[in-house]
Amino acid sequence: MISIRGLCKRHGQRAVLDDITATVERGEIVAIVGPSGGGKSTLLRCLNALDDFDAGEIDIAGFSLRPAPTPALRKQHRRLRAAVGLVFQQFHLFPHLSAADNIALAPRLVRGAGRAEARRRAAELLAQVGLGDRGDAFAHQLSGGQQQRVAIARALAGAPEVLLFDEPTSALDPEMRDEVMQVIREVAGGGITMLVVTHEMQLVANVATRIWVLDGGHLVEQGPASEVLAQPKSSVGRDFFARIRAPEPSPGSK
Ligand SMILES: Nc1ncnc2c1ncn2[C@@H]1O[C@H](COP(=O)(O)OP(=O)(O)OP(=O)(O)O)[C@@H](O)[C@H]1O
Ligand SMILES: [Mg+2]
Repeated sequence: MISIRGLCKRHGQRAVLDDITATVERGEIVAIVGPSGGGKSTLLRCLNALDDFDAGEIDIAGFSLRPAPTPALRKQHRRLRAAVGLVFQQFHLFPHLSAADNIALAPRLVRGAGRAEARRRAAELLAQVGLGDRGDAFAHQLSGGQQQRVAIARALAGAPEVLLFDEPTSALDPEMRDEVMQVIREVAGGGITMLVVTHEMQLVANVATRIWVLDGGHLVEQGPASEVLAQPKSSVGRDFFARIRAPEPSPGSK
């Protein structure tokens, strides 16, 4: 489903991704964790063809990504982005479109779906994420959690084979986090292949089948979620899981 071989990406002199090699089987849910600046967002952007890279190869959802794509190859990237959906931390809904039109846009542009068909599918997807009655609302009329659920529905509208999530709950208050995590969990249950950058223990422990630990542009650890959680081999992994497992300090305690 996904094969990444020797992936390297630089920003100026800095190697942001350094010789990443990994595979993802169909239906796997990979949690990508690690410290800030480790390259997690950059990796997702490369997988979605939003960023070019300097060396290596990516095969994903039937598309082949290589360094320095020709204009002809670049034209395929729009179709790739329907097959490989990306959900951002900050939702990025189109502010001038209703929720339903945000969802209907890509099927119309990319697949040439008719207006009525795209609207019908948007209504189904809105119902699936618990927003069946909010299709006419604009982003500013929706809570953060609702906006993120629309963004997930929009990603699903491309009938993706792979869904990428970049810290989908980090911008949300705790009560909205739960509603979005519930939707992610349901989508995961549908058998779609997913890569989720997250600090949420609930997602890492209960939804992910595998864990990748990314640090300084290196994939320093990868394995089945249960094994990595029980006994992280990398010091970065140990630190990371110790920190997100630590109980919140109680109010008033120093
Ligand atoms: N457009 C850019 N120009 C220059 N450097 C960049 C650019 N985008 C990212 N970087 C650098 O690449 C490195 C990896 O960034 P990236 O955003 O992928 O990390 P991350 O693991 O997602 O971090 P975080 O957990 O904070 O989101 C960082 O050192 C960052 O400063
Ligand atoms: Mg990031």
